[in-house]
Amino acid sequence: MRKFKAFIALDCKSNSENIKIVKKLSSLVFGFKVGYSAYYNKHSNKLISEIKKRKSHLFLDLKLHDIPNTVGSAITSLSKINPDYLTVHISGGKNMLDQSLATIKKHKLKTNLLGVTLLTSLDNKDSKLIFSEKKTSLLVKKMASIAANSKINGLICSGQDLNDLKKYKKLIKVTPGVKLYRRKDDQKRVTFVDEALLNGADYVVIGRELINSKDPVKLLEKYYEENKNKNLWSN
Ligand code: C5P
Repeated sequence: MRKFKAFIALDCKSNSENIKIVKKLSSLVFGFKVGYSAYYNKHSNKLISEIKKRKSHLFLDLKLHDIPNTVGSAITSLSKINPDYLTVHISGGKNMLDQSLATIKKHKLKTNLLGVTLLTSLDNKDSKLIFSEKKTSLLVKKMASIAANSKINGLICSGQDLNDLKKYKKLIKVTPGVKLYRRKDDQKRVTFVDEALLNGADYVVIGRELINSKDPVKLLEKYYEENKNKNLWSN
C-alpha cells in the first residue's frame, strides 16, 4: 500500500492514545497533525519524537496570530522541533507572514508555512461583521491572494473553496473537514476525501473518522482497496 495523501489529526483524549495511532499508521499515511490539545499536553515532546523517529511528516497546527515580532519569536522557539508544516492565520497580515518566513529562513528550518484562509466555523454574517466582506467565499479568495503575495508555501482551505483557488498552482493546499465514507445521517453538504484530492487539494486532514474507528489500519486498507486506482496515494 502506498502512502495516503493525508495528515491524521492527533486529537485523541490522551497522549498515549495519540502515540498508538502514530505507531499504527505511520507507514500508511503522509503525516500527522499535532494541534492545540496534543501540543499543549505536557508530554507532547514524546509524541513529536515518535513522529520524527518514524520519519513521518510533522504538521504543527498552532494557527499563530500575533504581532510580527511575537510570531517571529514563537517560530524561533519552535526551531528545535523544526516541523515540516506550520500554520499561521493569514488575517495576521502581510508583515506577520513576511516576518514568519524571514524567521524560518534565518534558522534554516525546513518548515513550510501554511496560511489559514478562514475558520470554517465563521459564516457570511461573521465575514460581514468582522471583515466587511459579504461572503466567506470572497474573503477566502482575498486571503489566498495575500498569501500568494507574501510567498508563503500553502493554504488551509475547505473543500468548497478548492475550485476558487485553482489559479494558485504554487501554493500547497491542505483540506480539513473531509470524510472517507458517507454515513446515513449525513445531512449537510460534506466534502469527501477523494473529491478534495482530485479537485486540487495536495493533502487532506482526517481526524475522528479514523482515530475513533475500532481498527484504523483495517479501515485505511479497505479504503485503499476501493480507491487504489485514484490519485490519492503518493509514490
Ligand atoms: O472532523 P475531523 O475530526 O476529521 O477534524 C480533523 C481536524 O481538522 C481537527 O483537528 C480540526 O481542527 C480540523 N478541522 C478544520 N476544519 C473543519 C473540520 C476540522 O480545521 N471544518
